[in-house]
Amino acid sequence: MKEIFPTPPPIVRNEFESVRELFSRNVVPSYGRFDLVFSHGAGSYVFDVAGKRYLDLGGGIAVNCLGHAHPAITEVLVEQSRKLIHVSNLYFTEPQGRLAAELVKRSGAGKVFFANSGAEANEGLFKLARKFGHDEGRFEILTATNSFHGRTLAGIAATGQDKIKKGFEPMTPGFRHIPFNDLAAARNAISPATVAILIEGVQGEGGVTPATPEYLLGLRALCDEKKLLLFMDGVQCGHFRTGKFQSFQRILENIPGGEKFLPDGISTAKSLGGGFPIGAFWVRAPFADLLGPGTHASTFGGTPLACAVALKIFEVIEKEKLYENARKLGEWMKDELERLAKTYPSVVKNARGLGFMLGLELVEKEKIPAFASGEKPAAIQFTNRLHQAGVLVIPAGTQVIRLLPPLNLKPQEAGEGISKIEEVIKSLA
Ligand SMILES: Cc1ncc(COP(=O)(O)O)c(C=O)c1O
Repeated sequence: MKEIFPTPPPIVRNEFESVRELFSRNVVPSYGRFDLVFSHGAGSYVFDVAGKRYLDLGGGIAVNCLGHAHPAITEVLVEQSRKLIHVSNLYFTEPQGRLAAELVKRSGAGKVFFANSGAEANEGLFKLARKFGHDEGRFEILTATNSFHGRTLAGIAATGQDKIKKGFEPMTPGFRHIPFNDLAAARNAISPATVAILIEGVQGEGGVTPATPEYLLGLRALCDEKKLLLFMDGVQCGHFRTGKFQSFQRILENIPGGEKFLPDGISTAKSLGGGFPIGAFWVRAPFADLLGPGTHASTFGGTPLACAVALKIFEVIEKEKLYENARKLGEWMKDELERLAKTYPSVVKNARGLGFMLGLELVEKEKIPAFASGEKPAAIQFTNRLHQAGVLVIPAGTQVIRLLPPLNLKPQEAGEGISKIEEVIKSLA
């Protein structure tokens, strides 16, 4: 297979202002964007329109699991698009069936519904829960404080962060929040209307906080006892990012009883398509036929093109054992980030995470002289400095930066990222 490694454009064209102008006139300003305009990428690097190269440790927020312009993705997109891009879900196609089988193989006995995004995958789980509890009048779903589950109306109601809900009240009814990793709080929160609990295995937008093994096992037992569905949002932390297919498999490895743990539903998106939009939820066998014909649908859910891409990604990840890379190189990066936290306590509070889902928590903005007078939170100011140094990361909240690199990140790229992060930290210490 021919490798495609685009180089920066030979003639430097500074189109930055014209692109920004197009956006300010024509694009709804719902995103707080950084001042960067990208044109193309290759592997772990992306190039801006002026030809500057950036090491992409943000991975499009955990999406670009094989990096940019991966030849296998390009090839399968071309190949499948020559055959069949879309037919309605009124009909069967082989790629959708095969992709569902791959997800079932790695999750457990059950079935899969295909959507287009993480929010849409979660919406499906919400509908599943409502169907499950409908005849008993149960509809309420408990989710965690600091969680993130998407930007649809039900998604923001499910998300445990006020800033996401603000201005869009009244909230869709049927969601309540419980403190994360607090089993007693979960038990106390259950009402006669409660039907499900939804958590992330590792909270992403909330600042890279893994669930504890005790919490996961405790929630499973609690949900069994109270006849609730237990859902895991694997949109960001799933798809091998932590070193296992799902984060709960990583969190519970070597924990007595952990091998028996299985949620009742898992939502997935992001890395599932490596940049091609696709989302899905898996539902455990006893509940797999709850959503019968006519109850749920999505025009673009599971197109042959999207499924062919996702199948190819599974193949590459398996063949190249990229989960091992995420685990081993992720451990090395975490150790390095911990070293930075120890060496520069005036800038870094701590480092945390699993595999290629890493967080670096900065000290309060006021304690970093170079940031104190700036309007932007510490995480944004730090990210801006990294951009100048040629590295992309993702801020989470006001003080955490996240590293969510492609699963095929190379050791020397990890080393380059760490040394540039260290340079920035040093300049602030
Ligand atoms: C844990 C989690 N769930 C759901 C979503 C929503 O996914 P999407 O933006 O594809 O709708 C995200 C997006 O960041 C996420 O991190």
